[in-house]
Amino acid sequence: MPTNNTYGIHIKGIGSYVPELIADNEMFSKIVDTSDEWITQRTGIKTRHITNGEPNYFLGAEAAKKAVADAGIKAEDIDLIIVSTCTPDFYTPSEAALIQREIGAIGSMAIDINCACTGFDYGLDMAKRYLQSEDGVDTVLLVATEELSKFVDYTDRSSCILFGDGAAAFVLERNKDTLWSSYLGADGSGAKFLVSRALKSENVFRTNKEDFDMAMPQTKDHFFAQDGKEVYKFATRALPDAVLHACEKAGMTPDELDCIVPHQANVRIIETAAKNLGVSMDKMVVYIDRYGNTSSASIPIAFCDAVAEGRIKRGDKVCFVGFGGGLTFAAVIFEY
Ligand code: COA
Repeated sequence: MPTNNTYGIHIKGIGSYVPELIADNEMFSKIVDTSDEWITQRTGIKTRHITNGEPNYFLGAEAAKKAVADAGIKAEDIDLIIVSTCTPDFYTPSEAALIQREIGAIGSMAIDINCACTGFDYGLDMAKRYLQSEDGVDTVLLVATEELSKFVDYTDRSSCILFGDGAAAFVLERNKDTLWSSYLGADGSGAKFLVSRALKSENVFRTNKEDFDMAMPQTKDHFFAQDGKEVYKFATRALPDAVLHACEKAGMTPDELDCIVPHQANVRIIETAAKNLGVSMDKMVVYIDRYGNTSSASIPIAFCDAVAEGRIKRGDKVCFVGFGGGLTFAAVIFEY
Protein backbone atom coordinates (compact mmCIF):
# COMPACT_ATOMS: atom_id res chain seq x y z
CA MET A 1 0.00 0.00 0.00
CA PRO A 2 1.33 3.43 -0.86
CA THR A 3 2.96 5.45 1.88
CA ASN A 4 2.76 8.67 0.03
CA ASN A 5 3.92 11.99 1.35
CA THR A 6 3.15 13.99 -1.77
CA TYR A 7 0.32 16.47 -1.79
CA GLY A 8 -3.14 15.41 -2.89
CA ILE A 9 -6.53 14.79 -1.35
CA HIS A 10 -7.54 14.83 2.27
CA ILE A 11 -11.29 14.49 2.91
CA LYS A 12 -12.08 17.25 5.36
CA GLY A 13 -15.86 17.24 5.47
CA ILE A 14 -18.82 15.33 4.06
CA GLY A 15 -22.57 15.84 3.77
CA SER A 16 -25.62 14.49 1.99
CA TYR A 17 -29.15 15.64 1.35
CA VAL A 18 -32.25 13.93 -0.04
CA PRO A 19 -35.68 15.47 -0.68
CA GLU A 20 -38.37 14.90 1.94
CA LEU A 21 -40.91 13.30 -0.38
CA ILE A 22 -40.67 9.50 -0.28
CA ALA A 23 -42.14 7.16 -2.90
CA ASP A 24 -42.39 3.56 -1.73
CA ASN A 25 -43.04 0.47 -3.83
CA GLU A 26 -46.75 0.52 -3.00
CA MET A 27 -47.03 3.95 -4.64
CA PHE A 28 -45.46 2.53 -7.80
CA SER A 29 -47.90 -0.36 -7.84
CA LYS A 30 -50.66 2.27 -8.19
CA ILE A 31 -49.17 3.87 -11.32
CA VAL A 32 -47.71 0.86 -13.20
CA ASP A 33 -48.26 -2.89 -13.24
CA THR A 34 -45.78 -3.88 -10.54
CA SER A 35 -45.59 -4.98 -6.91
CA ASP A 36 -43.50 -4.47 -3.80
CA GLU A 37 -42.52 -8.14 -4.04
CA TRP A 38 -41.21 -7.88 -7.63
CA ILE A 39 -39.28 -4.66 -7.02
CA THR A 40 -37.76 -5.91 -3.75
CA GLN A 41 -36.71 -9.26 -5.16
CA ARG A 42 -35.37 -8.01 -8.50
CA THR A 43 -33.70 -4.79 -7.34
CA GLY A 44 -33.53 -4.55 -3.52
CA ILE A 45 -35.26 -1.15 -3.62
CA LYS A 46 -37.98 -0.25 -1.11
CA THR A 47 -38.18 3.55 -1.20
CA ARG A 48 -36.71 6.52 -3.06
CA HIS A 49 -36.70 10.21 -2.26
CA ILE A 50 -38.17 12.38 -4.98
CA THR A 51 -38.23 16.16 -5.43
CA ASN A 52 -41.45 18.02 -4.80
CA GLY A 53 -40.66 21.07 -6.91
CA GLU A 54 -37.22 21.87 -5.56
CA PRO A 55 -34.58 22.05 -8.32
CA ASN A 56 -31.52 19.88 -8.71
CA TYR A 57 -29.06 22.59 -7.64
CA PHE A 58 -31.00 23.05 -4.39
CA LEU A 59 -30.26 19.44 -3.40
CA GLY A 60 -26.59 19.94 -4.20
CA ALA A 61 -26.40 23.20 -2.28
CA GLU A 62 -27.97 21.64 0.83
CA ALA A 63 -25.45 18.78 0.73
CA ALA A 64 -22.62 21.28 0.13
CA LYS A 65 -23.63 23.39 3.15
CA LYS A 66 -23.45 20.29 5.34
CA ALA A 67 -20.02 19.32 3.99
CA VAL A 68 -18.69 22.85 4.51
CA ALA A 69 -20.00 22.87 8.10
CA ASP A 70 -18.54 19.40 8.72
CA ALA A 71 -15.15 20.57 7.41
CA GLY A 72 -15.25 23.64 9.63
CA ILE A 73 -14.26 25.95 6.78
CA LYS A 74 -15.83 29.11 5.37
CA ALA A 75 -17.39 29.00 1.91
CA GLU A 76 -14.95 31.74 0.87
CA ASP A 77 -12.09 29.26 1.43
CA ILE A 78 -13.23 27.13 -1.51
CA ASP A 79 -11.03 27.50 -4.61
CA LEU A 80 -12.80 25.12 -6.95
CA ILE A 81 -16.30 23.63 -7.14
CA ILE A 82 -16.76 20.49 -9.23
CA VAL A 83 -20.33 19.30 -9.66
CA SER A 84 -21.19 15.92 -11.09
CA THR A 85 -24.66 15.74 -12.58
CA CYS A 86 -26.46 14.27 -15.58
CA THR A 87 -29.66 16.11 -14.68
CA PRO A 88 -28.78 19.83 -14.67
CA ASP A 89 -31.43 22.52 -14.32
CA PHE A 90 -30.03 24.57 -17.22
CA TYR A 91 -27.72 24.17 -20.20
CA THR A 92 -26.19 27.34 -18.81
CA PRO A 93 -25.44 28.41 -16.09
CA SER A 94 -23.79 25.33 -14.68
CA GLU A 95 -25.01 23.68 -11.50
CA ALA A 96 -21.60 24.53 -10.04
CA ALA A 97 -22.26 28.26 -10.56
CA LEU A 98 -25.72 27.98 -8.96
CA ILE A 99 -24.41 26.02 -5.98
CA GLN A 100 -21.60 28.55 -5.61
CA ARG A 101 -24.21 31.33 -5.46
CA GLU A 102 -26.28 29.44 -2.88
CA ILE A 103 -23.42 28.74 -0.50
CA GLY A 104 -21.65 32.09 -0.99
CA ALA A 105 -18.36 30.85 -2.40
CA ILE A 106 -18.23 33.71 -4.91
CA GLY A 107 -14.99 33.91 -6.89
CA SER A 108 -14.08 30.20 -6.89
CA MET A 109 -13.73 28.22 -10.11
CA ALA A 110 -16.93 26.35 -10.90
CA ILE A 111 -17.35 23.49 -13.36
CA ASP A 112 -19.85 20.71 -14.08
CA ILE A 113 -18.89 17.24 -15.22
CA ASN A 114 -21.19 14.60 -16.65
CA CYS A 115 -20.13 10.99 -16.68
CA ALA A 116 -23.46 9.75 -15.36
CA CYS A 117 -23.19 7.38 -12.40
CA THR A 118 -19.38 7.38 -12.23
CA GLY A 119 -19.17 11.17 -11.81
CA PHE A 120 -18.11 11.18 -8.17
CA ASP A 121 -15.15 8.88 -8.85
CA TYR A 122 -14.11 10.99 -11.85
CA GLY A 123 -14.53 14.12 -9.69
CA LEU A 124 -12.25 12.76 -6.96
CA ASP A 125 -9.60 11.98 -9.54
CA MET A 126 -9.93 15.48 -11.06
CA ALA A 127 -9.81 17.15 -7.65
CA LYS A 128 -6.63 15.27 -6.81
CA ARG A 129 -4.92 16.54 -9.95
CA TYR A 130 -5.83 20.16 -9.08
CA LEU A 131 -4.77 19.73 -5.46
CA GLN A 132 -1.47 18.20 -6.53
CA SER A 133 -0.55 21.10 -8.78
CA GLU A 134 1.32 24.09 -7.41
CA ASP A 135 -1.39 26.37 -8.70
CA GLY A 136 -3.02 27.82 -5.62
CA VAL A 137 -5.89 25.34 -5.35
CA ASP A 138 -6.04 24.33 -1.68
CA THR A 139 -9.71 23.53 -1.17
CA VAL A 140 -12.11 21.75 -3.53
CA LEU A 141 -15.83 21.24 -3.04
CA LEU A 142 -16.95 18.14 -4.92
CA VAL A 143 -20.72 17.73 -5.23
CA ALA A 144 -22.87 15.07 -6.90
CA THR A 145 -26.47 16.14 -7.31
CA GLU A 146 -29.13 14.33 -9.29
CA GLU A 147 -32.82 14.83 -9.97
CA LEU A 148 -33.49 11.76 -12.06
CA SER A 149 -37.24 12.00 -11.46
CA LYS A 150 -37.43 14.70 -14.11
CA PHE A 151 -36.42 12.39 -16.93
CA VAL A 152 -37.89 9.15 -15.64
CA ASP A 153 -40.71 7.75 -17.79
CA TYR A 154 -43.32 6.88 -15.16
CA THR A 155 -45.18 4.70 -17.67
CA ASP A 156 -42.20 2.35 -18.10
CA ARG A 157 -42.34 -0.14 -15.23
CA SER A 158 -38.95 -1.65 -15.99
CA SER A 159 -37.09 1.62 -15.38
CA CYS A 160 -39.26 4.02 -13.35
CA ILE A 161 -39.03 1.91 -10.20
CA LEU A 162 -35.24 2.18 -10.14
CA PHE A 163 -34.50 5.88 -9.67
CA GLY A 164 -34.50 8.48 -6.91
CA ASP A 165 -33.16 11.99 -6.31
CA GLY A 166 -30.45 13.18 -3.94
CA ALA A 167 -27.07 14.78 -3.45
CA ALA A 168 -23.83 14.49 -1.50
CA ALA A 169 -20.69 16.57 -1.17
CA PHE A 170 -17.09 16.33 0.03
CA VAL A 171 -14.78 19.15 1.04
CA LEU A 172 -11.28 18.13 -0.08
CA GLU A 173 -8.16 19.92 1.06
CA ARG A 174 -4.60 19.89 -0.25
CA ASN A 175 -2.69 17.76 2.21
CA LYS A 176 -0.85 14.45 2.42
CA ASP A 177 -2.40 12.40 -0.35
CA THR A 178 -4.90 9.76 0.74
CA LEU A 179 -6.20 8.88 -2.73
CA TRP A 180 -4.16 5.80 -3.48
CA SER A 181 -5.35 4.87 -6.91
CA SER A 182 -7.95 5.52 -9.54
CA TYR A 183 -8.96 3.46 -12.51
CA LEU A 184 -11.31 5.31 -14.84
CA GLY A 185 -12.56 4.57 -18.32
CA ALA A 186 -15.39 4.51 -20.81
CA ASP A 187 -16.76 2.40 -23.65
CA GLY A 188 -18.66 4.67 -26.02
CA SER A 189 -19.73 1.69 -28.14
CA GLY A 190 -22.34 1.16 -25.42
CA ALA A 191 -23.61 4.76 -25.56
CA LYS A 192 -26.98 3.55 -26.86
CA PHE A 193 -27.76 1.48 -23.76
CA LEU A 194 -28.56 4.35 -21.34
CA VAL A 195 -30.10 7.38 -22.98
CA SER A 196 -31.87 10.65 -22.24
CA ARG A 197 -31.78 13.08 -25.16
CA ALA A 198 -31.29 16.84 -25.09
CA LEU A 199 -32.90 19.39 -27.44
CA LYS A 200 -32.92 18.43 -31.09
CA SER A 201 -30.86 20.37 -33.57
CA GLU A 202 -33.35 22.87 -35.08
CA ASN A 203 -32.44 26.29 -36.34
CA VAL A 204 -34.02 28.79 -38.72
CA PHE A 205 -31.38 28.25 -41.42
CA ARG A 206 -31.70 24.50 -41.52
CA THR A 207 -32.63 23.13 -44.95
CA ASN A 208 -31.86 19.44 -44.37
CA LYS A 209 -35.00 17.95 -42.85
CA GLU A 210 -33.61 14.45 -42.50
CA ASP A 211 -32.67 13.28 -39.05
CA PHE A 212 -28.95 12.70 -38.61
CA ASP A 213 -28.22 9.07 -37.79
CA MET A 214 -26.74 9.30 -34.32
CA ALA A 215 -26.80 5.51 -33.88
CA MET A 216 -29.00 5.94 -30.83
CA PRO A 217 -32.42 4.44 -30.02
CA GLN A 218 -35.61 6.37 -30.72
CA THR A 219 -36.82 7.69 -27.39
CA LYS A 220 -39.84 9.55 -26.12
CA ASP A 221 -38.64 13.21 -26.00
CA HIS A 222 -36.10 13.62 -23.19
CA PHE A 223 -37.36 10.56 -21.28
CA PHE A 224 -34.85 8.05 -20.01
CA ALA A 225 -34.58 4.75 -21.84
CA GLN A 226 -32.30 1.82 -21.21
CA ASP A 227 -31.54 -1.69 -22.33
CA GLY A 228 -31.73 -3.16 -18.83
CA LYS A 229 -30.25 -6.54 -19.78
CA GLU A 230 -27.23 -5.05 -21.57
CA VAL A 231 -26.60 -2.65 -18.68
CA TYR A 232 -26.89 -5.51 -16.22
CA LYS A 233 -24.34 -7.58 -18.17
CA PHE A 234 -21.95 -4.63 -18.44
CA ALA A 235 -22.31 -3.75 -14.76
CA THR A 236 -21.64 -7.22 -13.40
CA ARG A 237 -18.45 -7.36 -15.48
CA ALA A 238 -17.26 -3.72 -15.12
CA LEU A 239 -17.72 -3.46 -11.37
CA PRO A 240 -15.37 -6.26 -10.22
CA ASP A 241 -12.98 -5.47 -13.07
CA ALA A 242 -12.61 -1.83 -11.97
CA VAL A 243 -12.07 -2.81 -8.32
CA LEU A 244 -9.35 -5.29 -9.29
CA HIS A 245 -7.56 -2.75 -11.50
CA ALA A 246 -7.69 -0.06 -8.81
CA CYS A 247 -6.40 -2.56 -6.22
CA GLU A 248 -3.58 -3.59 -8.52
CA LYS A 249 -2.58 0.06 -8.99
CA ALA A 250 -2.62 0.54 -5.22
CA GLY A 251 -0.61 -2.64 -4.67
CA MET A 252 -3.26 -4.38 -2.60
CA THR A 253 -5.99 -7.02 -2.85
CA PRO A 254 -9.76 -6.51 -2.42
CA ASP A 255 -9.43 -8.45 0.84
CA GLU A 256 -7.37 -5.63 2.32
CA LEU A 257 -10.11 -3.06 1.76
CA ASP A 258 -12.26 -2.27 4.79
CA CYS A 259 -15.22 -1.69 2.54
CA ILE A 260 -16.39 -1.22 -1.02
CA VAL A 261 -19.06 1.40 -1.77
CA PRO A 262 -20.55 0.42 -5.13
CA HIS A 263 -22.89 2.41 -7.34
CA GLN A 264 -26.36 1.57 -6.02
CA ALA A 265 -28.24 0.41 -9.12
CA ASN A 266 -29.48 -3.07 -8.29
CA VAL A 267 -28.63 -5.23 -5.28
CA ARG A 268 -28.29 -8.27 -7.54
CA ILE A 269 -25.54 -6.51 -9.51
CA ILE A 270 -23.72 -5.82 -6.24
CA GLU A 271 -24.16 -9.42 -5.03
CA THR A 272 -22.79 -10.82 -8.30
CA ALA A 273 -19.85 -8.39 -8.18
CA ALA A 274 -19.04 -9.41 -4.59
CA LYS A 275 -19.12 -13.06 -5.58
CA ASN A 276 -16.85 -12.46 -8.59
CA LEU A 277 -14.44 -10.53 -6.40
CA GLY A 278 -14.46 -13.22 -3.73
CA VAL A 279 -15.46 -10.79 -1.00
CA SER A 280 -18.39 -11.16 1.38
CA MET A 281 -21.45 -8.91 1.16
CA ASP A 282 -20.44 -7.57 4.61
CA LYS A 283 -17.74 -5.60 2.83
CA MET A 284 -20.23 -4.00 0.45
CA VAL A 285 -21.93 -0.82 1.64
CA VAL A 286 -25.51 -1.00 0.38
CA TYR A 287 -28.34 1.44 1.07
CA ILE A 288 -30.23 0.91 -2.17
CA ASP A 289 -33.35 -0.07 -0.20
CA ARG A 290 -33.64 3.55 1.06
CA TYR A 291 -32.73 5.61 -1.99
CA GLY A 292 -32.85 3.54 -5.20
CA ASN A 293 -30.43 4.62 -7.90
CA THR A 294 -29.46 8.30 -7.57
CA SER A 295 -26.82 8.13 -10.32
CA SER A 296 -23.57 9.88 -9.38
CA ALA A 297 -24.93 10.81 -5.95
CA SER A 298 -25.51 7.18 -4.98
CA ILE A 299 -21.95 6.33 -3.92
CA PRO A 300 -21.31 9.40 -1.73
CA ILE A 301 -24.83 9.26 -0.22
CA ALA A 302 -24.18 5.64 0.81
CA PHE A 303 -20.76 6.65 2.15
CA CYS A 304 -22.29 9.45 4.27
CA ASP A 305 -24.89 7.05 5.73
CA ALA A 306 -22.18 4.50 6.54
CA VAL A 307 -20.07 7.15 8.28
CA ALA A 308 -23.09 8.44 10.22
CA GLU A 309 -23.85 4.89 11.38
CA GLY A 310 -20.24 4.27 12.42
CA ARG A 311 -19.74 1.63 9.76
CA ILE A 312 -16.92 3.58 8.10
CA LYS A 313 -14.35 5.31 10.30
CA ARG A 314 -11.37 7.58 9.82
CA GLY A 315 -8.38 5.55 8.62
CA ASP A 316 -10.51 2.95 6.82
CA LYS A 317 -9.41 1.83 3.37
CA VAL A 318 -12.36 2.44 1.05
CA CYS A 319 -13.08 1.68 -2.58
CA PHE A 320 -15.71 3.65 -4.52
CA VAL A 321 -16.74 1.79 -7.66
CA GLY A 322 -19.26 2.82 -10.29
CA PHE A 323 -20.59 2.15 -13.77
CA GLY A 324 -23.14 3.97 -15.84
CA GLY A 325 -24.18 5.90 -18.93
CA GLY A 326 -21.51 6.44 -21.51
CA LEU A 327 -20.88 3.64 -20.81
CA THR A 328 -18.43 4.58 -18.08
CA PHE A 329 -16.68 2.67 -15.32
CA ALA A 330 -14.55 3.89 -12.43
CA ALA A 331 -12.98 2.81 -9.16
CA VAL A 332 -10.98 4.85 -6.68
CA ILE A 333 -9.26 3.67 -3.51
CA PHE A 334 -8.57 6.03 -0.63
CA GLU A 335 -7.98 6.20 3.07
CA TYR A 336 -10.76 8.09 4.84
N1 COA B 1 -42.73 -5.04 -12.14
C1 COA B 1 -43.15 -6.24 -12.55
N2 COA B 1 -42.66 -6.86 -13.64
C2 COA B 1 -41.68 -6.23 -14.31
C3 COA B 1 -41.19 -4.97 -13.95
C4 COA B 1 -41.76 -4.36 -12.81
N3 COA B 1 -41.37 -3.17 -12.34
N4 COA B 1 -40.23 -4.60 -14.81
C5 COA B 1 -40.12 -5.57 -15.72
N5 COA B 1 -41.01 -6.57 -15.42
C6 COA B 1 -41.24 -7.81 -16.12
C7 COA B 1 -40.82 -7.78 -17.56
O1 COA B 1 -41.82 -7.19 -18.36
C8 COA B 1 -40.62 -9.23 -17.84
O2 COA B 1 -41.89 -9.80 -18.07
P1 COA B 1 -42.08 -10.93 -19.20
O3 COA B 1 -41.22 -12.07 -18.77
O4 COA B 1 -43.54 -11.22 -19.15
O5 COA B 1 -41.61 -10.30 -20.47
C9 COA B 1 -40.11 -9.81 -16.52
O6 COA B 1 -40.44 -8.83 -15.53
C10 COA B 1 -38.63 -10.03 -16.49
O7 COA B 1 -38.00 -8.90 -17.06
P2 COA B 1 -36.45 -8.75 -17.08
O8 COA B 1 -36.09 -7.52 -17.87
O9 COA B 1 -35.83 -10.06 -17.46
O10 COA B 1 -36.17 -8.49 -15.53
P3 COA B 1 -34.82 -8.39 -14.81
O11 COA B 1 -34.77 -9.37 -13.71
O12 COA B 1 -33.67 -8.38 -15.79
O13 COA B 1 -34.88 -6.95 -14.15
C11 COA B 1 -34.06 -4.70 -14.43
C12 COA B 1 -35.00 -5.79 -14.97
C13 COA B 1 -34.26 -3.45 -15.26
C14 COA B 1 -34.42 -4.43 -12.99
C15 COA B 1 -32.60 -5.25 -14.54
O14 COA B 1 -32.35 -5.69 -15.85
C16 COA B 1 -31.58 -4.21 -14.19
O15 COA B 1 -31.47 -3.79 -13.05
N6 COA B 1 -30.77 -3.79 -15.18
C17 COA B 1 -29.77 -2.75 -14.93
C18 COA B 1 -30.43 -1.41 -15.05
C19 COA B 1 -29.62 -0.33 -14.43
O16 COA B 1 -28.95 -0.54 -13.45
N7 COA B 1 -29.73 0.87 -15.00
C20 COA B 1 -29.06 2.02 -14.50
C21 COA B 1 -27.61 1.86 -14.64
S1 COA B 1 -26.72 3.21 -13.99
